[in-house]
Amino acid sequence: MKICFATNNQNKLKEIRSLIDDRFEILSLQDIGCEEELPENQETIAGNSLEKAQYVYDRYQVNCFADDTGLEVDALDGEPGVYSARYAGTHRDSGDNIRLLLENLKSEENRKARFRTVISLINDGKVDQFEGTAEGRIIDDLKGLHGFGYDPVFIPEHSGKTFAEMTLEEKNQLSHRAKAIRKLVSFLNAHAK
Ligand code: IMP
Repeated sequence: MKICFATNNQNKLKEIRSLIDDRFEILSLQDIGCEEELPENQETIAGNSLEKAQYVYDRYQVNCFADDTGLEVDALDGEPGVYSARYAGTHRDSGDNIRLLLENLKSEENRKARFRTVISLINDGKVDQFEGTAEGRIIDDLKGLHGFGYDPVFIPEHSGKTFAEMTLEEKNQLSHRAKAIRKLVSFLNAHAK
């Protein structure tokens, strides 16, 4: 079954292809000829993921799913949250986002944070949503070269390493998105034709 993951992020495509079985062929936005930026105008992670999936489903008539992720930092009242990608501005630069995050946490002792992912699936017009979270903490120095986004400053709980110091397989054991994807995959295995 062909299904579009509404992203061109190669890291995310790699992540899902390593978690889903061969019965499913995962197409990227590029694969379906979608070159425009997807709308993200909602105020929640769940709302944004649904808006993106609905956009692709309506215009390209393809079964699809979209994800949206936010980093929720307790000492910042849940920020950057739904604004994680644009935290330091609409140029969406991970380095700048991390710099601003560390600046805002400079004198904070409470480093507790979590990633939250919501995946919205639209299969033959029917919507289902799947959530995954990863609890952890923010550190002051960047560590590791793998992954993307806020990975170099996030240490998941029960681990001594940042996500950026982990292999993809290690991150997949613990990550918010992998947890949401596993729920999506078991749903698809049970329901998809
Ligand atoms: P998006 O919803 O995937 O666009 O992600 C929103 C923001 O969170 C972006 O700044 C991403 O870089 C960041 N982000 C998403 N997933 C991860 C992750 O697995 N690790 C680190 N940062 C992430």
